[in-house]
Amino acid sequence: MTRVPLLSAQGLNVRYGAIQAVRGVEISINEGEIVTFLGANGAGKSSTLNALVGLVPVAEGRVLFDDQDITDFAPERLTPMGLTLAPEGRRVFGGLTVEENLRMGAYAVNDADRRMAAWDMVYDLFPILHERRKQFAGTLSGGQQQMLAIGRALMCGPRLLLLDEPSLGLAPKIVGQIFDLIALLRERDVTLGIVEQNVAMALEVADRGYVMAAGRVVATGTAEELRQTDRLSAAYLGEE
Ligand SMILES: Nc1ncnc2c1ncn2[C@@H]1O[C@H](COP(=O)(O)OP(=O)(O)OP(=O)(O)O)[C@@H](O)[C@H]1O
Ligand SMILES: [Mg+2]
Repeated sequence: MTRVPLLSAQGLNVRYGAIQAVRGVEISINEGEIVTFLGANGAGKSSTLNALVGLVPVAEGRVLFDDQDITDFAPERLTPMGLTLAPEGRRVFGGLTVEENLRMGAYAVNDADRRMAAWDMVYDLFPILHERRKQFAGTLSGGQQQMLAIGRALMCGPRLLLLDEPSLGLAPKIVGQIFDLIALLRERDVTLGIVEQNVAMALEVADRGYVMAAGRVVATGTAEELRQTDRLSAAYLGEE
């Protein structure tokens, strides 16, 4: 039996006016996997993820989720289907409390039991968010805001969660906590796609990865293979 990926993109192109940020990208993520997207600044990682969830338009190509063509679907339509992205730069609503931020993440969930389970899971994973639930999000530390951004994305009970640089700008200890969390999410059957600058840690937690340079996928393989390939460092040095 051929395994159908949970998410796949074929011939994906993204353009911003004259700038082509993504060039013919082919990727797939299977159920239960952690897949990482690596590459230097400007390689097209965020553009790829954003195009998958409808945050930027797909110029050419196709995106399939659970065997359905979602190429032109808006994020609001994808969230209830179980596909969501926690974007780069921890976008929390600073003027709302922690609890209010989390409630916004659950807007797409109509089932009361599922919503309760999401609250339990998020407060269980992040006790600090429970402790600070009445506090304005803008007054949280950077690491706590990142936890809140991830927690909010988890509130919709995603089947596939895309994380764009979850560890960016965080202290090493907090980065460790974020990666511990990623490992925990896998145990809870959340499939993950993660963009990371922290290559060593990303390859430690991931099953497979894609390396991007100048809008293209320049290497792919298991985490173990990518650790060994010199194409990884070449992509970072801009030699691709
Ligand atoms: N809204 C935009 N308008 C114009 N150009 C953009 C826009 N967003 C991204 N780009 C350009 O597209 C290219 C890819 O950017 P993208 O943000 O996808 O890269 P990235 O791999 O996520 O980089 P980083 O690691 O710095 O986050 C870059 O050249 C960038 O300048
Ligand atoms: Mg980016």
